Parts: sequence; structure tokens; C-alpha cells
Amino acid sequence: MNRRLCLITGASAGIGAEFAKQYAALGWDLVLTARRADRLQVLASEMHSRYGVSVDVIPEDLSNPGAPARLVAAIEEKGRQVDALVNNAGYGLPGTFLSTEWKDQADFLQVLYLAPLELTHRVLPGMAARGFGRIINVASLAGYAPGSAGHTLYASVKAGLIKFSESIEAECKTLGHENVHCTALCPGFTWSEFHDVNGTREATKSMPKWMWMEAEPVVKAGIEAVNRGQPVVVPGVANKALATLTRILPEPLGRALVSGQSKRYRKL
Ligand SMILES: NC(=O)c1ccc[n+]([C@@H]2O[C@H](COP(=O)([O-])OP(=O)(O)OC[C@H]3O[C@@H](n4cnc5c(N)ncnc54)[C@H](OP(=O)(O)O)[C@@H]3O)[C@@H](O)[C@H]2O)c1
Repeated sequence: MNRRLCLITGASAGIGAEFAKQYAALGWDLVLTARRADRLQVLASEMHSRYGVSVDVIPEDLSNPGAPARLVAAIEEKGRQVDALVNNAGYGLPGTFLSTEWKDQADFLQVLYLAPLELTHRVLPGMAARGFGRIINVASLAGYAPGSAGHTLYASVKAGLIKFSESIEAECKTLGHENVHCTALCPGFTWSEFHDVNGTREATKSMPKWMWMEAEPVVKAGIEAVNRGQPVVVPGVANKALATLTRILPEPLGRALVSGQSKRYRKL
């Protein structure tokens, strides 16, 4: 089997489905995972018939701590290895820390933080040994901005993924794995099912059009960045400007701005 293989989490919708399309178009075989197996099967058939690549579907709920190990074991049992990993699955958890159950916060951490870390830990040794690997952690512009009320852990988890990606990229470089790269992709508002799932679609309708991007250029930016060994990428001119603003504004001003704005896209 000569084709490279890409494992994509959260491939049943939005940014993850777009990653599947772009990697398939580049001639990569795919392993798609998410909870909705029916959606993954439809996408898998489409990618196979359009690009001739082989696509496996492994449904998993990543809030289950055993899921990362099962995913990698299932791939290895088929004699395949992960050449690219896209840690994309995610959602927003509405409410405040006071109003939410710990179980929901723990599941959130498992899906958006621990699963990406464990998957990376499981596939990185093979990548290093073979001298080739690509890891994309889908973080967020929220990882740059100050924390604000509502969806409490979202900003911390995404900031954590940015730092983690920088460290992995630096470690690969330091250890001489010159063609193993890790990138945090930090989208701003992107058209997907994300705001339907977290119940903020109505509220986000008031966000100006220039703040929104399609998934296609977001994903393209991620793939190009990881190929050139760029540890963090913010797609789009508007998002880049916002990311820069978060770095140059005095902290109290940044917090005040984000607190004012976040009422429009965070549900308490
Ligand atoms: N859209 C935005 O504005 C935006 C901005 C910045 C960052 N992001 C990030 O981009 C990533 C993708 O989000 P999206 O915008 O594409 O949202 P989306 O359209 O809602 O897709 C989310 C994906 O995550 C999967 N998922 C959710 N919970 C899961 C679980 N417990 N186990 C396995 N898979 C799970 C969903 O699949 P199933 O429901 O089938 O399991 C779905 O495939 C997320 O990490 C998000 O934080 C999005």
C-alpha cells in the first residue's frame, strides 16, 4: 500500500468533513471517525468514488477515554499506519462553570483536549521512526483571546492546544525529525454545524459577514501550514488582524472588548 493515510476526528460535519475532502483530493487514504456513522459512510463512499482512495469508517465517541487506543489499534490491525492526524472533533459547552455538571466538563476535556493529546502520543513514535508525519490540532482564535463568561473551558483548551502544538513542533525539530510537523489551526467564525450544536446560531447571526469564513480556505491554510512546519496558523486576513489585536492591546482593554462581544456568541 503506497498511499499515505490520514486519520481525521470529527469528520461527520463542518471542518472535519472538509479535511476529508482535501486530503482525499491530494490522493491520501482516510480513516474517518465521529459518532454519526451514517454520515461518515456517505462521505467515505463519495471520497472513494470521486478520488479512488480507500476510506475506512471507525465510529467512536471521543468522550470515552478508551477511544484513542481503540482507533489506533484498529488501524494497526489492518496493517496501516497514521501518516497524518487531524485532531478536529469539538463543540462548545454552553453555560457557566457554576451552572454545568462536572461530568459535562470532564467529557469536554476528554473530547477536545485529552483525546488529541493521546492520539498524538500514540502516532508520533511511528511518524518519527518513518521520518514523515503531519499533525494538525484544530484550535481556535478563542485560544488567543482573553477568557470570558460562558463556555468556560473552551478558551483554555484551545490555548492549551496552541501551546501543545508549538512544543511538539519544537521537539520534532530539536530531535532531528525534520519532516514531522505539528500545527495548531486557529479558525475564527467558520460556517459549519458548530453554532447549531451549541445553540448560538440565532445570536451569531448578528456577527458581521466579514468575520465568517468557509471551511474550505480554513482547511487549506491548515494543510499548507503543517507542510511548511509552521506551528500555528490563523486563517484569513480578518482573523489574523484580530489575533494581532489580542497581542497588542493592553490586557484590561482586551478583556473588556472580549467580554462585551462574547455575549453575542457565548450562551450563559
Ligand atoms: N465553526 C467555528 O466557528 C469554529 C471556530 C474555531 C474553531 N472551531 C473548531 O473546529 C473544530 C470542528 O468544528 P466544526 O466547526 O466543524 O463543528 P461541527 O460542524 O459541529 O463538527 C464537529 C465535529 O465534531 C464531532 N464530535 C463532536 N463531539 C464528538 C464526540 N463526543 N466524539 C466524537 N466526535 C465528536 C462531530 O461529530 P458527531 O456529532 O457525529 O460525533 C462533528 O463531526 C472544533 O474543534 C471547533 O472547536 C470551530
